[in-house]
This record gives sequence, C-alpha cells and structure tokens, in this order.
Amino acid sequence: MDKFIIQGGSRLEGAVTVSGAKNAALPAMAAALLTSEPLVLANCPAVRDIATMSQLLGHMGVRVEKDARDPHRITLHAERIARREAPYDLVRTMRASVLTLGPLLARFGQARVSLPGGCAIGARPIDLHLKALEQLGASVKTEHGYVEARADGLRGTRILFDRITVTGTENVMMAAALASGETVLENAAREPEVADLAELLGKMGAKIDGAGTSTVRIAGAGKLHAAEHTVIPDRVEAGTLLVAGGIAGGDLELLSCRPDHLTAVMAKLQDAGITITSTDEKSLRVRAPGRLQSVDVTTEEYPGFATDMQAQYMALMTQAEGAAVITETIFENRFLHASEMVRMGADITIEGRQAIVRGKTPLSGANVIASDLRASASLVLAGLVASGETVVDRVYHLDRGYERIEERLNSVGARIRRVR
Ligand code: EPU
Repeated sequence: MDKFIIQGGSRLEGAVTVSGAKNAALPAMAAALLTSEPLVLANCPAVRDIATMSQLLGHMGVRVEKDARDPHRITLHAERIARREAPYDLVRTMRASVLTLGPLLARFGQARVSLPGGCAIGARPIDLHLKALEQLGASVKTEHGYVEARADGLRGTRILFDRITVTGTENVMMAAALASGETVLENAAREPEVADLAELLGKMGAKIDGAGTSTVRIAGAGKLHAAEHTVIPDRVEAGTLLVAGGIAGGDLELLSCRPDHLTAVMAKLQDAGITITSTDEKSLRVRAPGRLQSVDVTTEEYPGFATDMQAQYMALMTQAEGAAVITETIFENRFLHASEMVRMGADITIEGRQAIVRGKTPLSGANVIASDLRASASLVLAGLVASGETVVDRVYHLDRGYERIEERLNSVGARIRRVR
C-alpha cells in the first residue's frame, strides 16, 4: 500500500490547475446507462473512483473508452447491457455505484444493486433513494444484501425527500428522465453536481427545470440520446488547495476553478485571515498572513459549508489562534482524522457532533493513518505545516478522489514522496 512521506515547512508558490469534479463525473458516467447512444464526457478526473465506475459499467456491458490523446475524456456506450447488476465487491469499494440503480431501472425495468452498508464516515443508508423509486412505481425488495428493483414503466409523480440527499436526488432525477409524465422533486439537493447532471440530461434530451434549487421538475422523455459534456471543476479539490495555500503560507493560484461554487468555504477562510482574491472568473489567488484566527464552522448542505471540507478545515484550525468549534451535521462519524491530528500535536476534543480545536499548536511529523478520502487530505495538509517528516499511510483513500495530488503540490513547492 502506498504511503506519502511529507517533509513539512515549505511555502507553496505557483499555480495549480483544478481537476474535474469526481462527484459530478460519477453520476454523469452512470447516466450513460440511460441511452443506447454514446456519451462523451470531458474533464473527468483520472482518479480511482472513476476507474471503479468504469469497471462497474464495463461489467454491465458498457463500452468505456479513454481518449488516447486526452486521459480526461471518456466515451461511454451502453448499447447492449449484459448484466443489470452492481456486485458487492464494486459497491463496497465505492458507494457511488448505487447511482446505477435509477438508470438501470428506468431503461431496462430491472436492477440488482448491492446494498452499500456503512463506511468510515457513517451508516449511510439508501432508504431515501429506494422510497423515491417506489413512488415512481418501482417494486423494491432487499434480499441477501442486494436491492432488487423492478418496474413496468416508471410514472412521474411528486416526491418529497425527508432529508436532503445528493446521490439520492441524482439517482431519482436520472430515473425520472425516462419516466412517463412529470416528476417534481421537493427538498432536492442543490449541489452544483446535481445541476451539472441536469445539464447533461438536458443535452441528452430530458427537460429539467430548477436543478440547483430545492424544487426540480423533470418532464420524462421516452428516449434519451447521445451527448457530449464537460464536467464542472472540483470544488472540494479547489477548497483543499485553498487550505493548502492558507496553512503552508506563500502565494498560490488556482486555475480552472469555479469560485462561485466556493462561496461558503472562501468566506470562512477569509474570516480566518486568509487573503483570497479572484484573478478572473475561473481563477483564485490565495495568500496567507502570518497569523490565522479561529472561526467556528457548521457543515451544511450546499450552499452551506460542505462536509467534504470539514477535515481540511480542522487541519487549518490547528494553526489558528483561539478555540474553533466545528459542528458536523451531515455524517455522524466524520471526525476520525481528529485523533490522528492529536498524535501530531493538535489540541482537539470531540463532544458528540462537535470538535473543539484549540490553537495555535505546533504540529510535529508522525505516522498517521487516514480513514477516508477527505480525512487523508486533511492529514496531508497537516503534514505540510508539521515539523519534520509525516508519513501518511493508506494513500489509496486519497487516490480515490485527488489526481496525482503529491505531484501537483510538489510543483508548487511541497516536498511529498510516494513510497510503495
Ligand atoms: N441519507 C439517508 N438516507 C438516504 C440517503 C442519505 O439517511 O437514503 C443520509 C446520509 O446517511 C447522510 C445524509 O443523508 O447522513 C446526506 O447524505 P447524501 O445522500 O447527501 O450523501 P451521498 O449522496 O451518499 C454525496 C457525496 C459525498 C458527500 C455527500 C454530502 C458523491 C458521490 N458523494 O454522498 O462525497 O460527502 O454527498 O455532501 O457525490 C466525498 O467525495 O468524499 C464524499 C463522501
């Protein structure tokens, strides 16, 4: 298993290009199942979750081809599907595999998808996906660890989500795109990734209004067709790089990002004393002052502060003066990185859903283990500012969602070695 050895203390200077959004590319790839015609996706990040989704779709019979000249451009052609099944081994390694449920059911009237089970950040059930698909007319049973869904044609209806769910909204939006009649989703997720998927579905021939707001109207189309789409930039990767610039000091430029998707994160970082300026509508410049201030944060659904930025923000707060209260409201168990940061010298107390970070504490390099993708990113950030050497184990978590992050950070002055 790969590890990172990080030599802390370097300033970061220069420009980094932000990758395409993993969490927008995954549903976009699943949308290929909705049509027998090819779908071309540009700006897909070359990360492990995208490879896993390619493998899953390939298992079903989708032809997945990477462009020989551009590794971020993928053509997916679901002309014939051999298996309408997402097996346990693939769902276990990537929960987003459940995004194939809605499209398979809508196009073929049948799907068998392994139940994902819990993961390092919480229980993460999919009951809301299933309830909404039932409302569209599917019969769903769970047996032997699998969800078996069948439908004799889905019919549009009004669906009120009891709780906001990102992939739930995406799954149901894709199913509704092939249903007969109109579906209205209420309390839908407003994440930019949902809006990006709606844009793609629109290019494929669906009529969707309101994506990006909490009420989404989908007029079902009998058939969807070929399309080409460029995935939006990754707002979590961009946020992680903003924190990198803030924690390590220096002067960093982020290229090809969407500042308008980063409003909540930028506001907190600016309150903490980091200077962020927008050089143009696709670029940001981040400069760190000598001194950071503690600022409380509560994670929320978009447009609030993303849970996917909570761990990275915690790393930053270890370097800020005063006490910061970080409240996690989305996942019940997303503080596993805290104990690793404490091993590096941080002063963090967990009380239920709140972490109290008291700073500023000097961090010193240690051997740390990451439990999930964003936790791994936070430990890399802590390593950038720690004295001596930090060894981050189980880097495969990081490789799920950040493309060659060590090479890109090294190109702006970090000192990170990958060892096998
Ligand atoms: N929930 C339910 N029932 C459901 C669905 C969700 O109770 O049927 C609960 C979850 O357990 C959680 C909350 O609702 O407590 C929100 O979960 P959501 O469904 O929105 O999360 P998700 O769709 O599984 C996506 C991202 C996550 C990100 C969350 C929250 C993708 C592929 N994944 O997950 O990304 O943290 O939304 O924004 O889009 C990551 O990239 O590191 C990551 C974990």
